[in-house]
Amino acid sequence: MTNANLIENKAQVPKEFNKVSAMYDFATYLSQGYQEDLDNSASWLMLKGDERVLDVCCGTGKSTAACLKHITTGSIIGVDNSEGMLKEANKKFASEIEAGKVNFELQDAMHLDFEAESFDAIFMAYGLRNMPDYEKSLELLYKLLKPGGRLCIHDYSLANKGWAKAYWGVLSYGFIVPFCSILSRSTKIYTYLAKSVLTFLTPPEVEAKMKNAGFQNIQVKAHKSWRSPILHAFIGEK
Ligand SMILES: C[S@@+](CC[C@H](N)C(=O)[O-])C[C@H]1O[C@@H](n2cnc3c(N)ncnc32)[C@H](O)[C@@H]1O
Repeated sequence: MTNANLIENKAQVPKEFNKVSAMYDFATYLSQGYQEDLDNSASWLMLKGDERVLDVCCGTGKSTAACLKHITTGSIIGVDNSEGMLKEANKKFASEIEAGKVNFELQDAMHLDFEAESFDAIFMAYGLRNMPDYEKSLELLYKLLKPGGRLCIHDYSLANKGWAKAYWGVLSYGFIVPFCSILSRSTKIYTYLAKSVLTFLTPPEVEAKMKNAGFQNIQVKAHKSWRSPILHAFIGEK
C-alpha cells in the first residue's frame, strides 16, 4: 500500500504504528517540547481530579500521562487500535492499571464502544487527523461526553495555508521523515504524517466542525513552542 493509499485508507494507520511502537517514546522524547505541549493541552480540560476521562488514540500513553497529572480519585480509559502502541502503554502504566486508575482498550476510534454520556472529559491528541471522517468522529465524541463535559483536540493544524505549509514542509521532509525513518526503520508512517498534516483542516475549519457537532464555547489555542504555527488545541464544551 502506498502513502497515498494510507491517506485514503486511514483504518490501516494503526497497523503502521505497530511497526514504530517500540521506538515511539524515544522519537518523541527527542522532539523537544512534545510532552510539555501535551501537558498544556491536558491542563485546558480543567480537570478537578475525580473525573472519568477518555483518552482517544492514546498510543503509548504520553497523552494519558498528561491527563493523569490532574487525576486523583478519578480514572482514565485510553483507547487505540494499535496492539503495539498499547503494549508499550500497558508496560509503562502497570501500577496505575493495578490500582484501577488507568485502563487501556483496543478499539477503533470511529466505532467506540461506550455508553452515551459516560465521560466527563475527552482528550484526543494527534488523533482527529487520522480519522477517515472528521465530522462523524466529532459527533461520536460529543455523544460520549456528559452534559457540561469538555473535549480537547490537540493536533497539527496549519495556521495559514501559505508560510505555515512551507514551515511544515521543511520540518517534515527535511527532518522528521528522514530522522524518524532511520530511527524506527520504517518510513511509511512518517511520510503519511507529512502528507496528512498538509491535507488536514485549518484551525477555523476544526472550530467550525466542532460547532456543527454541537460543541459550545470553543477556544482555539496555539502552543508557545517551535510548533506554534502548526500545533493547536481546540477545547469545546457540551
Ligand atoms: C501520533 S499517535 C498519538 C499517541 C498519543 N496520543 C500521543 O500524544 O503521544 C496516534 C495514535 O492514533 C492511533 N490511531 C490512528 N487511527 C486510529 C483509529 N481509527 N482508532 C484508534 N486509534 C487510532 C494510532 O494507532 C496511534 O497510536
